Amino acid sequence: MNVDGTPFRTIWLAEDGETVEIIDQTRLPHEFVTVALNSVDDAAYAIRSMQVRGAPLIGATAAYGMCLALRKDPSDDALKAAYDLLLRTRPTAVNLRWALDELKTLLLPLSEQDRAASAYRRAAEICDDDVAICRSIGVHGVELIREVWERNGKDRPINILTHCNAGWLATVDWGTATAPIYVAHEEEIPVHVWVDETRPRNQGASLTAWELAQHGVPHTVIVDNAGGHVMQQGNVDLLITGTDRTTAAGDVANKIGTYLKALAARDNNVPFYVGLPGPTIDWTITNGSEIPIEERDAEEVTKITGRTEGGEIETVMITPPESEAANYAFDVTPSRLVTGLITERGICAATAEGLAALYPEKR
Ligand code: MRU
Repeated sequence: MNVDGTPFRTIWLAEDGETVEIIDQTRLPHEFVTVALNSVDDAAYAIRSMQVRGAPLIGATAAYGMCLALRKDPSDDALKAAYDLLLRTRPTAVNLRWALDELKTLLLPLSEQDRAASAYRRAAEICDDDVAICRSIGVHGVELIREVWERNGKDRPINILTHCNAGWLATVDWGTATAPIYVAHEEEIPVHVWVDETRPRNQGASLTAWELAQHGVPHTVIVDNAGGHVMQQGNVDLLITGTDRTTAAGDVANKIGTYLKALAARDNNVPFYVGLPGPTIDWTITNGSEIPIEERDAEEVTKITGRTEGGEIETVMITPPESEAANYAFDVTPSRLVTGLITERGICAATAEGLAALYPEKR
């Protein structure tokens, strides 16, 4: 996707072919800064501090973190230590475990001298596959947008509400929830996106709004609590979000607040679709209550960061100093509230049968 008209991915290799470069997402939307990752510790820090975030990008960064570890020390001990370090960074997005397992299974049987090169090859493949998966989610998902547009006589833009950032910044490119939006934009189907601000870290207001603006997609930022109101007013045609982990039976873990949007969508007959890449399906569980929910630092709730009129980036306190705060980062939307899952293989019902029909090899 474009940054000031130049196409970017969210993760790439520097000219030396080994150093990993990322966009520091903690600085957006105020500053576009890239950061070099030179070690597995840098990669773990980037994930933990949310310089990179979003389920698919967390997986891709972890894969490159293994490469950075192995180029220094290709031993079994170093491989296992890197795996454990990276796995501990964030608990909810299953792409992390998936990518690390891919690398570990591939590398452990290899001789030490072959490991680093093979790791770099597999990490690059994981990134390229993610781009292809997301693009394909876009190609399938755009049909939902086209259908509403044609049903309405092509007389107005299609309103899509999204939560958090499941855009290209959360993946390697295209995004999951945003891929159908970008494909619609490319195909000149007019769309307008309601962007939930997504407290406490404001991934919607800071990241989704920024990338839609960079790409020229019309959008409006709303506070998290406004979603129900705009749905009641008949101003939302589709709710589309991403997911950090979806069970084999279709329960969807995503950014905190997704569940409330799903409830409001059901009450207002707004279809709720989830952009779901294959590596985000946890085939080992069927019940959403088994998904570990990350709890983050309370300071993300008690403080807020922004740019002053003078251009300074400042963090200010918004709660009384004596008040405690809880910071649940994700929630689980039960499959019964999900209209459909948009995968790279097509759209299916959020059920065990729906997913098994698209991924028969996982049966
Ligand atoms: O805490 P984050 O910013 O990593 O959470 C990201 C989300 O919840 C996204 O919606 C999800 O990862 C889907 S991304 C394609």
